Amino acid sequence: MNNDIKEILYSKEDIQAVAQKLGAQITADMKDKNPLVICVLKGAILFMADIVREIDTYCELDFMDVSSYGDATESSGEVKIIKDLDVSVKDRHILIVEDIIDTGRTLERLVELLKHRKAASVKICTLLDKPERRVKSVVPDYVGFEVPNEFVVGYGLDYIGHYRNLPYVGILKPEVYENN
Ligand code: XMP
Repeated sequence: MNNDIKEILYSKEDIQAVAQKLGAQITADMKDKNPLVICVLKGAILFMADIVREIDTYCELDFMDVSSYGDATESSGEVKIIKDLDVSVKDRHILIVEDIIDTGRTLERLVELLKHRKAASVKICTLLDKPERRVKSVVPDYVGFEVPNEFVVGYGLDYIGHYRNLPYVGILKPEVYENN
């Protein structure tokens, strides 16, 4: 599995350090708001575990699984809810935790949905941001790292279901997906 990686970008330690920094900012911004922290499955699970342990105020956790139609490396913007939230977002302050924002299509639809459901506020925390690729004006409030325009995997991010368990974020060798 490690042989499929062209370059390691961020180690577990790098990610935990950035989670600590972002967690302190989130704590300051959302103190006394009892935020509902929503993990976007499945890619954000590892980062979610890091970030919530750095949020030092009362909060609740929930999980949502959405799938964006498209091919294995690009979303189309049509978002299908695979698993919905367990609790109501009405009048709640929401923090969405994502693995990566690429075109922004998935998050744009998700934010629209939460606002339609009358969330009091919606903030976005993403481990990775690929601003070069943005086609929708989604601006995350908390960003771990900006990544180059390459397909990255690991630390929750997958290519056709694999690599989520790598303890780092790395660039996948293009020949791995070009041969599929
Ligand atoms: P959009 O384009 O809607 O995409 O912002 C967000 C979702 O697309 C997937 N994605 C990636 N997954 N490596 C991945 O493993 C990447 O480089 C990558 N770029 C986009 C991801 O599921 C994300 O939630």
